[in-house]
Amino acid sequence: MILVLDFGSQYNQLITRRIREFGVYSELHSHRLTVEEIKEMNPKGIILSGGPHSVYGENSFRCDERIFDLEIPVLGICYGMQLMTHHFGGVVERANEREYGKAEINVQEGTVLFDGTPMDQVVWMSHSDKIIEAPEGFKIEATSSSTPVAAMSNTEKQFYGVQFHPEVRNSEYGNDLLKNFVFHVSKCSGDWTMANFIDMEVEKIREQVGDRNVLCALSGGVDSSVVAALIHKAIGDQLTCIFVDHGLLRKNEGDTVMETFRDQFHMNIIRVDAEDRFLSKLKGVSDPEQKRKIIGNEFIYVFDDEAAKLENMDFLAQGTLYTDIVESGTETAQTIKSHHNVGGLPEDMEFQLIEPLNTLFKDEVRALGTELGLPDEIVWRQPFPGPGLGIRVLGEITPEKVEIVRESDAILREEIQKAGLDRDIWQYFTVLPDIRSVGVMGDARTYDYAIGIRAVTSIDGMTSDWARIPWDVLEKISVRIVNEVDHINRVLYDVTSKPPATIEWE
Ligand code: XMP
Repeated sequence: MILVLDFGSQYNQLITRRIREFGVYSELHSHRLTVEEIKEMNPKGIILSGGPHSVYGENSFRCDERIFDLEIPVLGICYGMQLMTHHFGGVVERANEREYGKAEINVQEGTVLFDGTPMDQVVWMSHSDKIIEAPEGFKIEATSSSTPVAAMSNTEKQFYGVQFHPEVRNSEYGNDLLKNFVFHVSKCSGDWTMANFIDMEVEKIREQVGDRNVLCALSGGVDSSVVAALIHKAIGDQLTCIFVDHGLLRKNEGDTVMETFRDQFHMNIIRVDAEDRFLSKLKGVSDPEQKRKIIGNEFIYVFDDEAAKLENMDFLAQGTLYTDIVESGTETAQTIKSHHNVGGLPEDMEFQLIEPLNTLFKDEVRALGTELGLPDEIVWRQPFPGPGLGIRVLGEITPEKVEIVRESDAILREEIQKAGLDRDIWQYFTVLPDIRSVGVMGDARTYDYAIGIRAVTSIDGMTSDWARIPWDVLEKISVRIVNEVDHINRVLYDVTSKPPATIEWE
């Protein structure tokens, strides 16, 4: 295991990410870890990350400096390197200006970190302060025109430092450098796989839960599905899942969830058919925010009602991912009152949280799902908003309108899949604007709804572009929708990026 200590750089997740891609397990933790805690983790190497501070700053982040006595190899990146320099008596120069972007460095002969890479190479810099004198016992390994100590090492003690960011793709040989640290210096073996992650986690879950019981809110989305499958593998019938079907799911979605988890995995799963309850609450409501609020709140009430019927539930399972934790500053709360998380669970119901995915990235969660035997339909499911089709029927929701969206969406999904585009497009769905227009079908005039197709490419949903679906595929979708879905006589294609639009229409 390679331990990465977090000093606040925006690239920190990438370090862990790259190392895992080499088949070596790596975790990012707060710089506040004590040496005792670090020893417990038994890392083969430690990386001190970059960060926004200056080592001379009053409140600058520090680490337990006894880590330098552990006889574990240490690599300092950017701020991490400056911290190491400061600790060992080198000179860090304060700077007001930032060096940001590509820079060329010149590497010395015979270095361990740069082994197998060229003498001149492009790296990615992002720093203000810089080291002008390496500490005693350290050798300069690379320089650049603006940075006299771009890399340094003390091979005897196995301490290394680089001023640039090897984890960023713009550092041409950054991966080679990290590999040299991980494999040659830290002597990791590179045999970490999803299969041994499962073994490790199953063991941990069994130990944590003992003979007690776990409750899980299963939505059929990737994260909650993988959590449920993993915990079930560990403790079987001690896990109970509640699946709230709000009647705003896509075609066959509820049945697929039940077939997978009840019939295939033989899990305890309670399906709550709450369509009427949701639709009656939504009657007459057309404001998007109000609709979202009603659906969100009702979801909690339904979950509460079901959970209250169960006895002896000690843990609440959550599909929290690594990114969720890292975004909140790598400080995680162990036990919380469940209502902070799931919403309004009864005050006196106190759960311990169990979050077995909280060390994984999204694509690792998918790989884990596949390893656990979940079908592609679930593992590669596109993002689907909590309020479901409720925010894709614009304006007031009626069962008829939900049906129109559900049917047209099913056709769209089928055709996108047939065309082999389903993994290239981030999200694709239909929306029903509240407009009708005139058409002609078989010699008769029609006055019916128009349906919109929304298909976008994106990396994280924060920004997106509209997907260039080939015309012939769009044509097939359009023809099928007007022929097969009642009350649709026109199909529109949304060609707006985000921003200025959002992905969903409400
Ligand atoms: P927007 O519409 O804001 O959506 O561009 C960005 C991404 O978030 C999804 N989304 C939601 N997901 N609950 C969710 O779990 C929600 O209420 C919600 N609203 C939007 C949306 O589908 C897209 O992937």
